Amino acid sequence: MVNYIEAATASPKNTGAIRLYGDDAFAGMRKACQLTARCLDEVAALVVPGVATDVLDRFIFEFGMDHGAYPATLNYRGYTKSSCTSINHVVCHGIPNDKGLREGDIVNIDVTYVLDGWHGDSSRMYPVGPLKRAAERLLEVTYQSLMLGIAAVKPGARIGAIGEAIQTYAEAERCSVVRDFCGHGVGSLFHDSPNILHYGRASDGPEIREGMIFTIEPMINLGKPHVKVLADGWTAVTRDRSLSAQYEHTVGVTTTGCEIFTLSPAGLDRPGLPPYQG
Ligand code: MF3
Ligand code: CO
Ligand code: CO
Repeated sequence: MVNYIEAATASPKNTGAIRLYGDDAFAGMRKACQLTARCLDEVAALVVPGVATDVLDRFIFEFGMDHGAYPATLNYRGYTKSSCTSINHVVCHGIPNDKGLREGDIVNIDVTYVLDGWHGDSSRMYPVGPLKRAAERLLEVTYQSLMLGIAAVKPGARIGAIGEAIQTYAEAERCSVVRDFCGHGVGSLFHDSPNILHYGRASDGPEIREGMIFTIEPMINLGKPHVKVLADGWTAVTRDRSLSAQYEHTVGVTTTGCEIFTLSPAGLDRPGLPPYQG
């Protein structure tokens, strides 16, 4: 049994109900998400061999402060950084540190800014110098997975249509979909209902309705889907140490499909890859 509720009148907590947002919320989300996208654009020039992920994280903190935005991850459930930086076999929630990136690494940078109470959540993969073919292919497959998931967002379809589109494509490309983490409702809360699974069947889950706002953020592995979380309590890695990639957008459901709030204003949605052809 799913419950939909007008966001303006809803409890400020996650009660399991699905918020339906109006025009003011869409306008606020557009602003927060575009700030996140601009940050992810600007950080691209900093991702070079030798740079420590701490340096990227500091830039992300400062960029937020300069624009009146707070990084949602800072002090979130004990997390102490302004971003997640997930390198190579790290699936998600990698913690920025003082180690330098190395040529050939792939790193996901995940940023959520809170601006005027609205959460803009997005991540992209950044190549560190030239990549091996397998790594480049994984980035292509993962980006395409995200875009196919987004294309499945339509009022009247179920949330499961997103996961089915992603899983069908990724597995046909001989990759696997991580099951342990999912997308989520987002807006006035960072992590809200519903969960957006990146696998499953089109008949699964609640109906998609106009006004819903959520993230789609598939994690795709070259090897098996299984992950484990390291002793720091955050860093999730592939059990088989195979490479993992992730891209994330925040979207709002419209009458005919969805608006991607976190699209790059600079056309840098997939840094280091050729322009997206659809
Ligand atoms: N931004 C991540 C997401 O896409 C969540 C990071 S929570 C943290 O939902 F605490 F690990 F930073
Ligand atoms: Co997210
Ligand atoms: Co994120």
